[in-house]
Amino acid sequence: MLQANDIKALKGKSPIVMITAYDACFARMAEAAQVDMILVGDSVANVVLGFSTTRDVGMEEMLMFVSATRRGAPDTHIVADMPWRSDVEPEIALKNAQRFVLAGANSVKIEGACIKVVRHLRQAGIEVVGHLGLLPQTATSFRQHGQSADEAEKLLQDAIELEQAGVCALVLEHIPERLGAHISQGLQHVPTIGIGAGNLVDGQVLVLHDALGLHPFKLPPFAHKFVDLYAQGVMGLEAYAESVRKKKENYF
Ligand code: KIV
Repeated sequence: MLQANDIKALKGKSPIVMITAYDACFARMAEAAQVDMILVGDSVANVVLGFSTTRDVGMEEMLMFVSATRRGAPDTHIVADMPWRSDVEPEIALKNAQRFVLAGANSVKIEGACIKVVRHLRQAGIEVVGHLGLLPQTATSFRQHGQSADEAEKLLQDAIELEQAGVCALVLEHIPERLGAHISQGLQHVPTIGIGAGNLVDGQVLVLHDALGLHPFKLPPFAHKFVDLYAQGVMGLEAYAESVRKKKENYF
């Protein structure tokens, strides 16, 4: 299993593969595919629980998803996403992060340049992954971030501050490719993991349900579908329904 230092050592050497997973079944699949890191993202609120925002999942549910993911992937680095307001100030964030570690996480991910919180967690020995660019917990629109020179400069400065505060990796969401490259080069030791940040970052992350085509909805512009399991699942269930209705199988 990769530890935080192994992840940092991959910068500039080998692209990091991260995928979300939320339960033992899909975590097992991700581990079998030898991904480097599994993110138990708060995107679970959208893709599993059917809510419209990631703010609709809380600590208790996230703990259950993290422990289920650990049972399915005992040998893969697991990042637990700190849900909305669980990291609102340093001491609350530390208590919640410690609960995630007890549930099986190797590190926690925090949205935004929460430097004080990151420092506090690092002082207590908790590994932290940063997240800049589009921040779904607080976003009012899903536009690409960092298009203006000022916004791009602010993102670079935030990334450098997060590196200095001790994050072991940085997720960059929905920013221009040239900015993804610029931030990646501006960080000495911290690998960047993009989702809609172009090809010139140190790794990629996708939401599992988008990558495996597990839902029938339109994908965000930066997502990729590698297989259509929703269509295959519907076909399988239609075959089951037909076998029951036409009494095709023996169901002893
Ligand atoms: O919750 C999530 O799945 C995420 C990814 C989009 C990076 O934060």
